Amino acid sequence: MAGRLTGKRAVVTAAGQGIGRAIAAAFLAEGAEVLATDLDAGKLDGLAGALPSSLDVRSDAAVAEFAGRAGRVDVLVNAAGFVHHGTILDCTDAEWELAFDLNVRSMHRTIRAFLPGMLERGNGSIVNIASAVGADATAPNRYVYGASKAAVVGLTKAVARDFIRSGVRANAICPGTIQSPSLDERIAALAEMNKTTVEAARQAFIDRQPMGRLGTTEEMGALAVYLASDESRFTTGQTHVADGGFTL
Ligand SMILES: NC(=O)c1ccc[n+]([C@@H]2O[C@H](COP(=O)([O-])OP(=O)(O)OC[C@H]3O[C@@H](n4cnc5c(N)ncnc54)[C@H](O)[C@@H]3O)[C@@H](O)[C@H]2O)c1
Repeated sequence: MAGRLTGKRAVVTAAGQGIGRAIAAAFLAEGAEVLATDLDAGKLDGLAGALPSSLDVRSDAAVAEFAGRAGRVDVLVNAAGFVHHGTILDCTDAEWELAFDLNVRSMHRTIRAFLPGMLERGNGSIVNIASAVGADATAPNRYVYGASKAAVVGLTKAVARDFIRSGVRANAICPGTIQSPSLDERIAALAEMNKTTVEAARQAFIDRQPMGRLGTTEEMGALAVYLASDESRFTTGQTHVADGGFTL
């Protein structure tokens, strides 16, 4: 089926690579107009048909300025996020601040900026990328990451509840382990930490997945299309887990 998002105008953060990029590409394939944003605008090259913009979601001023010139926005996808490795004993105050600012407060910033326009039109879909870690399960060494992603779930439900009769919906996607550039970095770091090979470190991530494989960014894009589209119009405030059985 094509054209499932025809007539919709979407903003996607962190669309330069990984899940954000796949969501932007899936939206374009379904006929949406896509304002693709990333801290590093250079990464948006090659996202054919998108309207690219540099956007640092950690900046109040940048988000407000972007929202001011974005025009009508029907769909907001918040994909920016960062994985900190370690327990509570490894987490410095600066790392706590970074995790909560990039993973949670960024969504507070963008939703605050785009929600008024959605409310005015009585229509909108907000899709926040949380994680299976922090939603229904956890994993070792994901202390502040899990805490911040649990906060994303809470934030998503709060927005959904407060505007339940407005026509604006908010949902969270909770991915399991997904092949992406930053996963490759985490695999390389784990190999170094455990003094093992990259292949062995990759296998450790695969072994966390009961299905026996990593997820793909395209699988996250497909779910995001559904949540962005009117097909999901009776669905709000929910966590949508796509994790290969990680939380089973
Ligand atoms: N990959 C996984 O296994 C996995 C699993 C669960 C959840 N997630 C979540 O999915 C989201 C995307 O992760 P990924 O691994 O697909 O992508 P990634 O980490 O490889 O890419 C992240 C992108 O975010 C951009 N970015 C970084 N700081 C930014 C900022 N301040 N403003 C705007 N953009 C910024 C980067 O330039 C990059 O393009 C994150 O929220 C992550 O927590 C990922």
